[in-house]
Amino acid sequence: MNSPRSIVLIGMMGAGKSSVGRCLQRRTGLLRFDTDEIVATRLGTSISEFFAKQGEEQFRSAEADALANLAPAEPSIIVTGGGIVLRDENISHLKRLGVVVWLEAEGATLFQRASRRSDRPLLQTDNPRETIEKILAERRPLYAKAADVRVNTTNRNHDEVADIILEEIENRTAGQ
Ligand code: S3P
Repeated sequence: MNSPRSIVLIGMMGAGKSSVGRCLQRRTGLLRFDTDEIVATRLGTSISEFFAKQGEEQFRSAEADALANLAPAEPSIIVTGGGIVLRDENISHLKRLGVVVWLEAEGATLFQRASRRSDRPLLQTDNPRETIEKILAERRPLYAKAADVRVNTTNRNHDEVADIILEEIENRTAGQ
């Protein structure tokens, strides 16, 4: 089943996907799906616990499965985990779901925001600031490949980012 007008948010940890997703949900009245939430509910455990017990590859499989089975009956807001772009098969699913929006920010900003939560398994390293840069360097080309729209979130609050996304979607719809 296709739901081509969904808004699909991708980007690094700390990019603001969850908050902007909630903002978009409030502003549009659309349903919101979050792959991290779907995976955690299905596995019956938190993502950090699952990572610790089963490892990253098992998590990636559960994440890919959640995405492949996501087929909202109506246009929705879809929030993804930062590593969703790592599996090639996921990219076609993201595109099937709707307009893919990459929330961008530099490493320093991502680190500052991501540090507000301490439960991100990939940042449990000796030097999380450096880890963010390393992950960002690996993933930047993958986000770029998957994205239809890029939004720079640096120095913008969630509502401002949501404004830009909604304007872009409106322009695209008007241009069709
Ligand atoms: C991950 C990001 C997390 C979560 C998991 C792995 C990643 O989601 O899916 O911890 O690989 O970047 P957020 O992007 O919402 O933090």
